[in-house]
Amino acid sequence: MVPDESSVPHMEHVASGKVRELYALDHERLLLVATDRVSTFDVVLPTEIPDKGRVLTGLSAFWFARTRAICPNHLLAVRPDGRSTECRRLQMLPIECVIRGYLSGSGWRDYRATGEVCGHRLPEGLRESERLREPIFTPATKTASGHDENITRAQAGALVGPARLAEVERLSLALYRFAADRARQCGIIIADTKFEFGQDGDGRLVLGDEALTPDSSRFWPADGYRPGHPQPSFDKQFVRDFCERTGWSKTPPGPELPEPVVAGTRARYVEAFERLTGIAFAAYLADPTVVLR
Ligand SMILES: Nc1ncnc2c1ncn2[C@@H]1O[C@H](COP(=O)(O)OP(=O)(O)OP(=O)(O)O)[C@@H](O)[C@H]1O
Ligand SMILES: [Mg+2]
Repeated sequence: MVPDESSVPHMEHVASGKVRELYALDHERLLLVATDRVSTFDVVLPTEIPDKGRVLTGLSAFWFARTRAICPNHLLAVRPDGRSTECRRLQMLPIECVIRGYLSGSGWRDYRATGEVCGHRLPEGLRESERLREPIFTPATKTASGHDENITRAQAGALVGPARLAEVERLSLALYRFAADRARQCGIIIADTKFEFGQDGDGRLVLGDEALTPDSSRFWPADGYRPGHPQPSFDKQFVRDFCERTGWSKTPPGPELPEPVVAGTRARYVEAFERLTGIAFAAYLADPTVVLR
């Protein structure tokens, strides 16, 4: 799962996220290793989804390679294991840059309570999962607990400075529009997505973390789309449905997943990869650099 450290003697383990392990390659570079861990309702489950980390890594690299003209990003190389990426080490901004094209999740909750999402006043009478006239930038704080909190533009501006904020807003909207258009042609709705930006040594803004993956976005199958209620997730629905059926309390520890749920979930992650990239997943496993071309 994690790389063999004996073969990489000087690799310092920097951090573990819910999904990724971070290692320092040197002062300027990190190795980001996406594991096969899956979390649902913010709890990491005891069962892994084989190749999920490769799907996330391949999809991120695919989008990074295609969005460089919109915004520079941290990707330096994808390793042959398909789950490790060499990245430029950044000073990450303390906000998550969320773009919402549709009203769902905490956006829907906030709208129902106040008619607003992160300070955007929206028209009355919108339904759950409804498409917004224009995508909106709805920043959130980055919290250690993983329960990120929506904040207003003014609060985000206080954290990163108004000029930086305007810049990440513009870039996030452009990235979302580019990817959402492309995904729509592949039968996938990107309802919302989250970007993380950082600064390089020269103070330049760079897109980091993962980008436009099922873990950082809500992917919905376009064919079954019906506003007015929650939409099934393209990839995680098997896991969510199973967890709901067990009557699990949604607090740790999460339930073990049975084999059919694991296989079904893996198949959907792979399908999302293949639809969005137009590349066979087997071709990615044989040579991960296919997503960069
Ligand atoms: N280029 C980079 N330089 C420095 N840090 C980065 C870079 N790219 C991503 N990161 C950070 O690495 C971490 C990625 O790990 P992961 O996605 O598993 O964790 P997370 O999203 O913070 O936590 P969780 O998923 O548990 O909420 C994030 O904290 C992210 O901000
Ligand atoms: Mg993350």
